[in-house]
Parts: sequence; structure tokens; C-alpha cells
Amino acid sequence: MSVNRNILTLDEFTIQQMRQFPKATGELSSLLRDIGLASKRVNVEVNKAGLVDILGDAGTMNVQGEEVKKLDIFANNQFVGVLKHGISCAGIGSEELDDIVIFDDEVSNNSKYICMFDPLDGSGNIDVNVSIGTIFSIYRRVSELGKPCTMADFLQPGNKQVAAGYVIYGSSTMLVYATRRGVNGFTLDPSIGEFSLSHPDIKCPKDGKIYSVNHGNFFQYTEGVKKYITACQKKDKTTGGPYTQRYIGSMVADVHRNLIKGGIFMYPATTDKPKGKLRLLYECNPFAFIVETAGGKATNGEKRILDLQPTELHQRTSFFIGSSDMMAELETHLAV
Ligand code: AHG
Repeated sequence: MSVNRNILTLDEFTIQQMRQFPKATGELSSLLRDIGLASKRVNVEVNKAGLVDILGDAGTMNVQGEEVKKLDIFANNQFVGVLKHGISCAGIGSEELDDIVIFDDEVSNNSKYICMFDPLDGSGNIDVNVSIGTIFSIYRRVSELGKPCTMADFLQPGNKQVAAGYVIYGSSTMLVYATRRGVNGFTLDPSIGEFSLSHPDIKCPKDGKIYSVNHGNFFQYTEGVKKYITACQKKDKTTGGPYTQRYIGSMVADVHRNLIKGGIFMYPATTDKPKGKLRLLYECNPFAFIVETAGGKATNGEKRILDLQPTELHQRTSFFIGSSDMMAELETHLAV
């Protein structure tokens, strides 16, 4: 059997990157490998979601007499488990858990990274077979090595991220991650069960024609947001409008598409949710880091997302992210 040696797996790629830094310890590569492993396990279960009627609903017993867990709980347990048993993570924060989990053992206390994640974003879409995803964010600890990590390690602004990424469980499963050196995408090759480099050095197109927003909330948005959305719908020779509206309700899928094709995604504050809906630490910061590294922009409507100083783990924010020219156009409407 011939093996295509030109295609790098996720592990080969991260190790190759590490080899360029003689002082690298390999901890980040190992952390990314752990995340890849957990997401492959989640992928298997996500692919079985349609069989829920046969296997049993969440909370019931399946045919083997085992309790069927909700997929987001299952995903959370996979990520927590794999990172706890790995050698590179001192603690985690998760959308599914009220508080941080500190892996207080000798190896973990000497690990220099902490990780935050949304184990299964868009899980409301599972029942209807729409793409969902995992989002993750990695920081270097600010607390003393050798001791348990602390909340201060988690409440760092997004500009301190060392790496961030997402996994999209879609028509194929992809893992995309960014470090300061660039953004790379890996597609899961089911024949060998490995993520293989399929989208090297992803760049977000400078301009685009897609806008993604929940139109049902239109009358709850600020005047500036309403003005921008209305401008998106107008025929305009300068901007190339009207733009195309695409909104799945699964941020990983919406932002992934806009990152590849060019576009803007918005989840603004509404009168019902004055602080916005999306979470700063494990939803907005990772995407802001990825999209900015790829050449795009991300703000809360006033400030750069990555410069916001978090005050709590589950903090929410308004969120605007996408191609730099579209973001600049948005800003002109928000400013008035
Ligand atoms: P959930 O994980 O609860 O399904 O939330 C999904 C998130 C995000 O992925 C998506 O863009 C947004 O919420 C959709 O919210 P609306 O339905 O309010 O538009």
C-alpha cells in the first residue's frame, strides 16, 4: 500500500513546528495532540447522534443498559479526562462547569499551560443534523510553576493566548488551530483516524459578501447595528451589496465558513440580553485570535475583543468578527 508522505498529520505538523524552536519542550504539541484525541472520540459519538432513537435518549438507558449521557456532557468529560491525564495542562475552564478545575498533582502543577473550552457549541443543532463544534483556548500560566494553577491564569486577556482552535463536526470533521505563526486546518481522514493537514496557512479574505446574524432579533439591536444590517441588504456599487445572509445558529460553522470565504458574523447585545449571549473566554477570544491571525478583525462593537480584561469565567460579550474591510464598514455605522 502506498502512503502519501506529502500529507502531514496533526502530530507530525506540530512536531515539525516545534523542531524550529530548539528550546521548545513539546508541551504545546502534546496538549494539541490530547485535544485532537478527545475530539476524535467526540466525533464518533456525534456521528451516532441520529441513532438516538435506537440507542436511547439522553438520561435513559441504552440497549446495553448503560445510561446515555447528553452529548455536551459526554464531550466535556472527554476533554477534561484527556487533559487531566495528559502531561501539559495545569487546569481547565469549561462552558459546562461552573468553576475551573485545577489538576492538583505533581505533573500538572509543573505544566505551563491551562486550557479553556466550549466542548460542544451549537448543541441545540444536534437533533437536526447540523454542524456543531468544539472551541478551545490555551494560555501560558501566570501563577508559579510547581504550585496549583489559579483563577488568575484563566482571567487573562485574549491577546495572551498561545494557541486557539476549533473542531467542526460537519460534512467532514476538521480541526483548525492558530498560533502566532499562522492558522492551519486539518481534516479527519477516517481511513487512518488522523487529522491531516488540508488547509495550510489559512488567510481570511480581506473582503466578503456574507453577513451572519440572527435577524429575528433585529428590533432588539442598537440603531448602529440596525443601520449596518440594513446597509448589507442594499444594492451598492461600492460595497458590492446586497450581501448574502447566512446564519446556521452554530457559531463554529458560521465563523468557519466566513473565515474561508470572507464575511462577517455578529452576535450583538439585544434588549433581552444586554451583555450579549456569547462567552468571552472560551467562545469569542479563541475565534478572535484565529481570525486576527488569519488577517481579519474582532470587536465587541467598541473595543478589540483580544484587549478586553476578563473579570469572570463565564463573562458574556457582544461579538463582531470577520473580514477586515467588512469590519471597517461595520465600524462606520456603529460610530454614528
Ligand atoms: P448553543 O450551544 O446553546 O446551541 O448556542 C449556540 C451559540 C452559537 O454557536 C450560535 O451562533 C448562537 O448561540 C445562536 O444563538 P441564537 O439562536 O440566539 O441566534
